[in-house]
Formats: sequence, structure tokens, C-alpha cells
Amino acid sequence: MTSETNNSTFSSDWINLPSLNLTVKSLFTSYLLVIGLGALLASAQILMTHGMADGKIGLSVDDIVYSYHGDPKHSKIEIKLNGSMSDKASAADKLKIIKWVRNGAPEEQWNQQLKEVFYSNCISCHSTIPGLPDFTQFEEVKRVAKSEKGATASSLTRISHIHIFAISFIFFFNGMIFSLSVGIKQGLRIFIVSAPFFFLAIDVFSWWLTKIVPEFAWLTIISGIGYSLCAAITWFVSLYQMWVLPRNGKSYKVNAWQS
Ligand code: HEC
Repeated sequence: MTSETNNSTFSSDWINLPSLNLTVKSLFTSYLLVIGLGALLASAQILMTHGMADGKIGLSVDDIVYSYHGDPKHSKIEIKLNGSMSDKASAADKLKIIKWVRNGAPEEQWNQQLKEVFYSNCISCHSTIPGLPDFTQFEEVKRVAKSEKGATASSLTRISHIHIFAISFIFFFNGMIFSLSVGIKQGLRIFIVSAPFFFLAIDVFSWWLTKIVPEFAWLTIISGIGYSLCAAITWFVSLYQMWVLPRNGKSYKVNAWQS
């Protein structure tokens, strides 16, 4: 081994996170910080889209079921009237809307009775705030009155492959950096660098399963927690070992990549 010879020109015992030079540490750190920001934004996006799918704040099994499997009994409008829009109309008016929606939202009744209900309760926002469906337009009411279909096969195919390719790269770079850590048992390191890829595959697979059988929604949640946890460990340990460990004055003479 080269490190044993005194006048050796190459020693590899600096190949570990605490011993890297500032250039490499800066590169790894900048990457980790920006990826961390991306993860926060992704969580916010998941909470706002899937998290609100059942009309209630926070991610739940129901959200996953509505997002991927859909719910033939519940239209978006009914879900919202039982959720974030529940304080926007009286119980009687909500019932009128829900009955009409379950009836297939026929246009004659809209003109005779429902238009009035929407005008007095909803359009102060739903015709003025950009991005919200405009409830002065029957077509836009009709669109949210349709029962939730869940994700389509074509949209799932598209997000599946983007998700797998993009996130694999993130896990790969996280794992590469983490593989330079010191003082962690080999078995644990192997688990932490490889498990995220399996969780990722299970995650995507579970979307398709949930589309068919809603009971599989819990698999989406477990795999999401699994890879988030692994990613968080690689993130914290890597930053800690680059910036905090070297400050205790000890030098780490080990090649973290050598078996
Ligand atoms: C004070 C303003 C306000 C009023 C009044 C209001 N909404 Fe909303 N509505 C919102 C906002 C903001 C959102 C987007 C956030 C959310 O989904 O909770 C929204 C979202 C919705 C959505 C989901 C739209 C989509 O495409 O995702 C539906 C359906 C809905 N509202 C129905 C209603 C109905 C029915 C009424 C009347 C009974 C109503 N809202 C009254 C502000 C309002």
C-alpha cells in the first residue's frame, strides 16, 4: 500500500469528507444547499397539489387515493365544499350545490336555480382571482362538477419517467458525497446509498398500483418517507463531516473509498 512507504508520492488517506480541500467542499456544499432548497420547494408543491386533493390541508392517504385513483362519487366541487370551501356557503346552499352536482350538473337547473347560489356565495372570488375557475361561466362550473378520475395513464407515464431519471441523479450525487464519510459502519452506508433507489422505484410503481387499487396508497407514503429519510441523512452527515468534524483538531487519515 502506498501510504506505508515513507517517500511515497501518492497517498490516498485524504479521501474522506473531513480532509477534502476547500474547492471540493465548496462544490459539494453548494450542490447540497441548492438541492436542499429544491427539496423544500418540492415538499411545498406536494402539499399544495396532492395535499389538498381531499380538500383538507396536509398529506393523507385520501389525498393519494384521489390523486391517482380518483373517486367516482366525489367531484372536485363536492370535495372542496367539504374541505377548504366549507365556510363559503350555508349548509342549505351547499346541499343544493351537491345535489345538483350528483345529478350530473344539468344546465337547465343551473339557469333556474344554481346560478343564483353561485353568484351570491362564490363569484366574489371565483371570477375575480386569476387562476381560480370562473363560476360566472357554466363550462367552468361543469369542469369542477365532474367526478374525480384520478391520474390518466398518459400523465402517469410522463411523470413516472421524468421522476425516475431526475431523482436518480440527485440520489446518485448525494450518495457519492456521502460515500466519502468516515466512522459509519459499512453495512449502514451501503443501505443509505442504495435504499433510496429502491424506494424510488417502489414509489413510482405504487402510483400505478394505486390508480388501479386504492388500498396501495400507503405504499406511496412509506416509500416517500423512506427515501426522504435516507436523503436527509446523507445531506446532514455530509455537511457535518465537511465542516464540523475537522474543527475538533483531529485529522482523518483514511481512504473512505478503499474496501
Ligand atoms: C373568499 C374567496 C373564495 C370564495 C368566496 C369561494 N372560493 Fe373557492 N377557492 C378560493 C381559493 C383561494 C381557492 C384555491 C385554494 C383551494 O383550493 O382551497 C378556491 C378553490 C376552489 C375550488 C377548486 C378549484 C380547482 O380548480 O382546483 C373549488 C371547486 C371551489 N373553490 C369552489 C367554491 C365554491 C362552490 C364556492 C361558493 C360556495 C367558493 N369556492 C367560494 C377562494 C374562494
